[in-house]
Amino acid sequence: MNSQPNIKKPEGKLGILIPGIGAVSTTFMAGTIAARNNMGQAIGSISQMGRIRLGKRTENRNPIISDFVPLASLNDLVFGGWDIFPDNAYQAAMKAGVLEKRLLHSLKDELSKIVPMRAVFDPKFVKNLHGDHTKNQTSKMELAAELIADIQHFKADNNCNRLVMIWAASTEVYLEISPVHYTIKSFEKGLQENDPSISPSMIYAYAALKCKVPFVNGAPNLTVDIPALIDLAQQQNVPIAGKDFKTGQTLMKTILGPGLKTRMLGIDGWFSTNILGNRDGEVLDNADSFKTKEVSKLSVLDSILEPELYPDLYRDMYHKVRINYYPPKGDDKESWDNIDIFGWLGYKMQIKINFLCKDSILAAPVVLDLVLFIDLAQRAGMKGIQEWLSFYFKSPQTAAELRPIHDIFLQKIKFENTLRYLMGEDLITHLGLDYYEEKCELVK
Ligand SMILES: NC(=O)c1ccc[n+]([C@@H]2O[C@H](COP(=O)([O-])OP(=O)(O)OC[C@H]3O[C@@H](n4cnc5c(N)ncnc54)[C@H](O)[C@@H]3O)[C@@H](O)[C@H]2O)c1
Repeated sequence: MNSQPNIKKPEGKLGILIPGIGAVSTTFMAGTIAARNNMGQAIGSISQMGRIRLGKRTENRNPIISDFVPLASLNDLVFGGWDIFPDNAYQAAMKAGVLEKRLLHSLKDELSKIVPMRAVFDPKFVKNLHGDHTKNQTSKMELAAELIADIQHFKADNNCNRLVMIWAASTEVYLEISPVHYTIKSFEKGLQENDPSISPSMIYAYAALKCKVPFVNGAPNLTVDIPALIDLAQQQNVPIAGKDFKTGQTLMKTILGPGLKTRMLGIDGWFSTNILGNRDGEVLDNADSFKTKEVSKLSVLDSILEPELYPDLYRDMYHKVRINYYPPKGDDKESWDNIDIFGWLGYKMQIKINFLCKDSILAAPVVLDLVLFIDLAQRAGMKGIQEWLSFYFKSPQTAAELRPIHDIFLQKIKFENTLRYLMGEDLITHLGLDYYEEKCELVK
């Protein structure tokens, strides 16, 4: 057994603040309310459905994760957020068209009470959307102050003990790190002077961190992945995580990629295309927003396959990702992958995947797990980037000097061992020393 960190109990209400009351967030809220009223099961949620092995295999200890670690109860979650449209969560969920109208109707009273606050929005960062439920302050620092006031009012009005914030708003246009993002000082000066390289999502993240509220980024925007905000999270003792929920096609890629590599099978090309017709698809139809998503989706394979270590297998791999907006599909995304692989003596083969998925149905449990685990991290005194939550992201945020781990199986080991560590259990490496000692004894 390890010495166990001191974890504060999850007492009282946990407020979940979400910029973006759209398809993902309303599917998450409605699903959580349904699950806590026994109207549905939180399928896909590791915290609610998953078990974790503890100790030796012979001990047969496999508790449900939510029984093992002290997570907030679903009954204690309170929801709020911001959007550029004034629709409440019931109206937004009806428009998103993910969940059945009958289910939404039965949750109408609770969902209608979730009314978005006015958003911090700049059309330069999301070009295909036009809403006017926005704040009108003149400087970015004033906007941040307004968000801080929103956060404080929400906490008091809903009698919350703790809060977390998770970005589920539209993908912003592609941005590179620039000098204004380097230090807390340069960032705050940039807020005062309306620096054009500070995006709305960064203003939300700044406001959250100033209030000591953990921040999770579900989209591929830079947001909290800049030195100034990473330093602020450290300084404020607040955990952060991102970026870009790992759901449909990338989930498949991080399952299949490590499998092919494990058997030392080569890959010539991996062509991935998607059609989707929800508002996310409409935003990604803009080239600048697509670029942010493309970078996030492309980063995965290189890190898994390590072409620099295995040049004969992966050096010349051609990787292409396309997203096409096709309104009739709604939230039912369709993705195709064509994978050209080669085996023994270079003989060529093909794999085709046609995944007819529901984007928000895959994302909702990821949101639930992330808010519960980042709150756990906060109560356990863990600050800064939470790499153990990489499991949930397409483009995991890691310390500047480290390469992110994309292999979902390695991510899962890290995730589970972090939970074991937090609860004072032995870490499991799946390499029991006694096994090898016994085998070597037989050989001797
Ligand atoms: N669904 C998935 O599987 C998945 C996976 C990975 C990432 N994501 C990301 O999650 C985000 C949400 O996806 P969605 O399908 O719910 O999209 P959506 O378009 O249905 O919802 C996004 C909402 O954000 C609002 N918004 C835009 N800018 C805002 C701002 N500055 N402040 C407050 N609200 C703002 C929009 O009005 C919209 O209602 C997107 O960035 C998407 O790329 C989704």
